[in-house]
Amino acid sequence: MSPWRWYASLIRPYTGRLLVAAGSLLLSGSVTLLVPAVAGRAVDAALIERSLGDLNTIMLGLIVLFAISAALDYLESWLIQSAAARMLAGLRGRLHAHLLSLPPSFYDARRTGELLSRLNADVGTLGDALTRDLVNALQRTVVLAGSLAILLSMHPRLTGVMLLALPPLVAAAVVFARRIERLSEKEQEALAESNVAAEEALSGIRTVQAFAREPEERRRYGKLIDVWLALEFRSSRTWALFHAVVAFAGFSAFVLVLWYGATLVVQGGLTAGALTAFLLYTMTVATAVGSLTNMFGRLKSASGATVRVREIFETVPGIADPPGAVPLPRPRGEVAFRDVRFAYPSAPDRFAVDGVSLEIRPGEVVALVGPSGGGKSTLASLLLRFHDPSSGAVALDGADLRTLRLADVREAIGLVPQDVFLFGGTVAENIRFGRPGATDAEVEGAAKAAHAADFIGRLPAAYATMVGERGVRLSTGERQRIAVARVFLKNPAVVILDEATSALDAASEHLVQQAFERLFEGRATLVIAHRLATVRKATRVVVLEHGKIVEQGTHDALFAAGGLYRRLCELQFVKEGDGAVAHGI
Ligand SMILES: Nc1ncnc2c1ncn2[C@@H]1O[C@H](COP(=O)(O)OP(=O)(O)OP(=O)(O)O)[C@@H](O)[C@H]1O
Ligand SMILES: [Mg+2]
Repeated sequence: MSPWRWYASLIRPYTGRLLVAAGSLLLSGSVTLLVPAVAGRAVDAALIERSLGDLNTIMLGLIVLFAISAALDYLESWLIQSAAARMLAGLRGRLHAHLLSLPPSFYDARRTGELLSRLNADVGTLGDALTRDLVNALQRTVVLAGSLAILLSMHPRLTGVMLLALPPLVAAAVVFARRIERLSEKEQEALAESNVAAEEALSGIRTVQAFAREPEERRRYGKLIDVWLALEFRSSRTWALFHAVVAFAGFSAFVLVLWYGATLVVQGGLTAGALTAFLLYTMTVATAVGSLTNMFGRLKSASGATVRVREIFETVPGIADPPGAVPLPRPRGEVAFRDVRFAYPSAPDRFAVDGVSLEIRPGEVVALVGPSGGGKSTLASLLLRFHDPSSGAVALDGADLRTLRLADVREAIGLVPQDVFLFGGTVAENIRFGRPGATDAEVEGAAKAAHAADFIGRLPAAYATMVGERGVRLSTGERQRIAVARVFLKNPAVVILDEATSALDAASEHLVQQAFERLFEGRATLVIAHRLATVRKATRVVVLEHGKIVEQGTHDALFAAGGLYRRLCELQFVKEGDGAVAHGI
């Protein structure tokens, strides 16, 4: 789609409003066109006819004209501002929705601060250009054409003299607009860069402060802001020069007209009133040309924002519902990896998962273990369809995930991540994230099943306690139990559990373990295991190294076999009585 068609598609929903706005602009423009003629009449009434009666009538007429024009301005201004605001809101909403549909690999390659900058700064620039500037440009064009027509009918030769000032102006506008376009593109980029730096420092504030790296972060942000400032200076200078040139051209036209016109008046070829009208029309023309060139520059400066916003819209989610997707109303939870190979887009030559075949039936618990970087998390994310395999297939109930509706796949799976994300809100809201329609009783039931009810009961406001940003910070074990409660509420056929590696005390450890075991009942479970208790209870232990399955079997059989698994056990699992925690697998 060309940018112009895209603009048209953005404006289309507001066509009605903008047309009415344009209509009232045209009317107020016509009123503007009448003013010089009326003023010219007033001058002749005073100077030539010396009639005060006429003068009074004409002045009253002028006031009425200005009142009409003010009322139209009010209407037009309200219509344009409200259309602009709606368009901004709509565009932001659509961009946000599109961002949510993009897969994790998109976010691996981007930085949050930069994306937020597009959602805010770029969309704002674009919205203004497409409504306010566009409608204004329309009005100025009409005023310009009308004034020129009137001027030509009044005095063609004088008009010709005035137009001498036009060509240099147009040339200047073209040159300036190109410079402004380039500068504003760089400026928006610099602004986005500084946003990234600020966002990273703020979201990593604990790390920054723990390493006392505030001065470096300050410098890093300061440098980026300086880059933006230098660009802003350059663009301000360009604009200032541009305005000066436009003003000079306008006044030159005025002087040319006054000069030649006054000569004509002296020679008796023109009345003083006609000259007044002519001068006022010249001013109207100069103002219209000035704002048109100005708006041309602003539309150009929006083109950088357009590119950046459209780039996101044009990113087609690589992972989406296939056409004619098969619905999966009641998933049984039969999971199968069939000779799955997968390489991350950023490292296409290295398979993070390399030829894995694995089945998990309902009621089975498969524990993934293996050295760090072995591909455990990657395998789990393939089951969630965060990525599609490079070759082979992941299947649910015998159907390739790529033939199912994405929402059905994700509805069938409950995830307890290693690092649980809590949204800013109450404990109850965070648990209800598992199933938004759940009643309070169901939320509490899920919390009990997750062995979370006791610690929630001890929080300052129990289920109404605020957590997440600006709330109580829960411990790792507590957060994991909130995540387990979410999954209980969701009641999926398949569970993916990424055990926390951090040490829990023996009592919490026991509670978390019990919560997990209840969660696994009757479901197909894939556990990235870090605890001895988990691998002992697993139906099967699968050892992943360099993306390949190198051993599989029960804990006892593998331990007895004395291979990689035994070495991992001896090195990394701590004895159960000490908290049964392993690091780094
Ligand atoms: N988003 C990514 N882009 C590129 N490479 C990645 C990405 N995520 C992981 N990798 C690479 O893929 C390989 C497997 O990583 P994965 O996270 O699956 O290992 P893991 O077994 O979960 O390790 P750990 O036990 O440390 O969590 C690693 O070599 C890792 O560097
Ligand atoms: Mg991992």
